[in-house]
Amino acid sequence: MKNILNAPFVEEMKKITANMYRQGWDERNGGNISYMLDEKEVGEYLDLNNVIREIPTGFDASALIGKIFIVTGTGKYFKNIEFDPENNLGIIRIAKDGTTAELLWGYSDGGKFTSELPAHLMSHIARLEVNPENRVIIHSHPVYTLAMNHVIELDEKIFTHTLWEMCTECIIVFPDGIGVLPWMVCGNNEIGIATAEKMKNFRLVNWGIHGIYGAGKDIDEAFGLIETVEKAAQLYMIATASGKRINTITDRNLWEVVEAFGLEDVVRKDFLDL
Ligand code: 13P
Ligand code: ZN
Repeated sequence: MKNILNAPFVEEMKKITANMYRQGWDERNGGNISYMLDEKEVGEYLDLNNVIREIPTGFDASALIGKIFIVTGTGKYFKNIEFDPENNLGIIRIAKDGTTAELLWGYSDGGKFTSELPAHLMSHIARLEVNPENRVIIHSHPVYTLAMNHVIELDEKIFTHTLWEMCTECIIVFPDGIGVLPWMVCGNNEIGIATAEKMKNFRLVNWGIHGIYGAGKDIDEAFGLIETVEKAAQLYMIATASGKRINTITDRNLWEVVEAFGLEDVVRKDFLDL
């Protein structure tokens, strides 16, 4: 059996969480990640018949029975993951009942998966329906995205369009736009259901005055979406704080980009006024 601490997926989790911490997006225990793993690959590192603990999830994830995820632990700090992955991360498998997580590795101090597991697993289910390749859900609290939540309406068209205007490549990176939820209590099934509903149409979901979710086939895609939104939100906050904004990318310009990059079928055309 190979050493799990050298597994590429553990390395990836260590690197991305350290990176996100250093961006200032994931203070204290803020943010969480779930990453669906390949059973065969995990089997090279762990005895898949050895269930350490069974942890109830509190919701039905029957669509994911048998699927294995590496998930950040609740209350755990992103800054500590690279130094102690076995305590701050866990590898879980959704049991046959659909409502139990079988712990295969990690959460070594007796901890458990993120309190946002409902939003993560329900989002996995929603995204897999759209794209069978989807494997990663990332939740984070990026600074400028959150700042922007205080100064513009929490409306999908306004939010998406404001960001598209900030730099030319935004509409190329997220032509499908950003779903927006109002402020809600976090860490429960209700916000999970609402997030997953948005994930049917969006790879990005903004939680009002809380943070953002990104989905993708790998960590690069999910992180890259959030990173691009955050960069645009930073531009928005800096440009508007100057009190003077005299140039913008018009909707005509945005449509030229859509045509140049062949995004006609994926762009949220109803977010443009053409
Ligand atoms: P967890 O520590 O349970 O992952 O919660 C952090 C968070 O960001 C809640 O939304
Ligand atoms: Zn959060």
